[in-house]
Amino acid sequence: MSNGPAVEAIDLVKQFGTNRAVDGVSFVVPEGTVLGLLGPNGAGKTTTVRMLTTLSVPTSGTGRVAGYDVLKEPAAVRRSMGLTGQSATIDELLTGRENIRLIGRLYGLPTKYLHKLSDELLERFLLTDAADRIAKTYSGGMRRRLDLAVSLVASPPVLFLDEPTTGLDPRSRADLWEVLRGLVKDGTTLLLTTQYLEEADHLADEIVVIDKGKVIAAGTPTQLKDEAGRASVVVTVSAVTDLPRAAELLRQHAPEVHVEEVSRRLTAPASGLADMTRIAGVFAGSGIDIDDLGLKRPSLDDVFLHLTGHRAEQEDTTETPTEQEAVR
Ligand SMILES: Nc1ncnc2c1ncn2[C@@H]1O[C@H](COP(=O)(O)OP(=O)(O)OP(=O)(O)O)[C@@H](O)[C@H]1O
Ligand SMILES: [Mg+2]
Repeated sequence: MSNGPAVEAIDLVKQFGTNRAVDGVSFVVPEGTVLGLLGPNGAGKTTTVRMLTTLSVPTSGTGRVAGYDVLKEPAAVRRSMGLTGQSATIDELLTGRENIRLIGRLYGLPTKYLHKLSDELLERFLLTDAADRIAKTYSGGMRRRLDLAVSLVASPPVLFLDEPTTGLDPRSRADLWEVLRGLVKDGTTLLLTTQYLEEADHLADEIVVIDKGKVIAAGTPTQLKDEAGRASVVVTVSAVTDLPRAAELLRQHAPEVHVEEVSRRLTAPASGLADMTRIAGVFAGSGIDIDDLGLKRPSLDDVFLHLTGHRAEQEDTTETPTEQEAVR
């Protein structure tokens, strides 16, 4: 790989008829880092990834992967990257092991090396036990992992993942995050698209938020959250009967207090840990029992709402089978 960034989007535009699906998107992904491309349904995430992976020709603008231009050097771009799309591309009638070996043979990898590599990939993706079952019997999470394993057969330095965990249950999602962190530790650069704020928060070094084809914000998860507003301190009292007294006490130390009876929770703005510690001290000497006290920073969901006026996570309309459907 050359010295420059692993991926660059340079003023990418894609027009479908009258619909400008991607409208001047630019960003840079430094080598060995994770960029999260975050946006709701129809924001232009897949279209951006398709242009960067040579599957779709930009209306204008261009991109570079591992230093190669997607328009002028598409073959070199394809050799430098792996792609896992929104729907799995594995062969259902082959076993996990056969799926990996098939792709390896297409790449012309020597048999002995390929056998060793397929064992390693199966292990890394927690598929060793299922390696010799046909993929049709795999759950949604296993399919996603196999799909990812297949895209790594050629050991590409740059990996594009289009909504890698959509449709997975929380456990499978956490497993996949773990695997992805391992890849990054070994030096792979990741560009992943997601509708899940939590996912971008967990995995990404940098987040680019897109909405209606345009970049509306970019920065580290913390930067984005800081922009969205202030933190608050949240106190949960043990007994609901203590709520009024707790609220009164808190009002003496905070400009405004929000009380929620159902959850026995009091919320007040706080600028940081010092404020929280001060409030903890106030409660410590009050005789009011508290279950929990903590600092809550704005979530990425708050960020999205702040930026766009609407929530990011919308109803999932993708075709991906859920874990439950897939095991049937
Ligand atoms: N081949 C195509 N022909 C015409 N319009 C398209 C095509 N592909 C995408 N679009 C349109 O471009 C816009 C962006 O779609 P895209 O698939 O990139 O969004 P996305 O962010 O990946 O959404 P999702 O989260 O649902 O996958 C949408 O309005 C979509 O209808
Ligand atoms: Mg998409």
